[in-house]
Amino acid sequence: MADHIINGKELVSDVRGRLKEEVERLAAEGLQPGLAVILVGEDPASAVYVRNKAKACEQVGIYSEVHRLPAETTQTELLELVHKLNAAANIHGILVQLPLPKHISEDAVIDAIAVEKDVDGFHPINVGNLSIGKPSLLPCTPAGIIEIIKRTGTSISGKRAVVIGRSNIVGKPVAMLLLRESATVTICHSRTENMKELCREADILVVAIGKPKFVTKEFVKPGAIVIDVGINRLEDGKLAGDVDFDDVVGISGPITPVPGVVGPMTITMLLQNTVQAAKALRS
Ligand code: GUN
Repeated sequence: MADHIINGKELVSDVRGRLKEEVERLAAEGLQPGLAVILVGEDPASAVYVRNKAKACEQVGIYSEVHRLPAETTQTELLELVHKLNAAANIHGILVQLPLPKHISEDAVIDAIAVEKDVDGFHPINVGNLSIGKPSLLPCTPAGIIEIIKRTGTSISGKRAVVIGRSNIVGKPVAMLLLRESATVTICHSRTENMKELCREADILVVAIGKPKFVTKEFVKPGAIVIDVGINRLEDGKLAGDVDFDDVVGISGPITPVPGVVGPMTITMLLQNTVQAAKALRS
């Protein structure tokens, strides 16, 4: 059974190894990709994510700097920092960790990031480019999901894909990317009727709904690949995905455990975007 549990360590170390070699090649040409990460406030989960991003940069030789700002930072102050980083020659990628405190407009901050440094792929121009099939910087979690699916040897073209969740960060863009790979794509969400029946038709099931253990074996076609984007803290302190892993693993095809696959692959795509942005800004 264990052979169809997707091994995140193997996947991630493979892609990061390739990136490290590319960063070394660029360094020999005098270019070191640089990433600036901005964290506003003290959200503990965000602090962990930001630390992991900085560590991953170090691992592959990307320069990184983390700007930790107090929760009371004003929108004007944050925008000033973004403008400064937009103009900084040693910075090729800018990431503002979300969520932001309520008094700051996330849209205004995302809009202020230079399009060519938007390594999250959240800027409306990058979102628009993806939706017209001319993507430049892809959002990291969706790009990582496609990478994971391809690396299991699963073909996407012509297959039925169902995405549960319609967020701007995951659901909508991953549906766009699956469509670009020529899947037949359905997006399910909290108002969807007959969700189980729709999901049971999926050859590829991507779950990003934010409800622990929501997907049970009744949602899964035997042999379907299941990608679990959820990461939820249970009352007992343990982490659980949006998929009831123990229930589904006996019937699915390749399946991602939580944690360990989608999270690290998302960070790996951030590294890849930073390298891509550095090369594009040089030319
Ligand atoms: N918070 C949760 N996921 C993300 C992400 O992908 N990017 C940013 N900037 N913040 C997040």
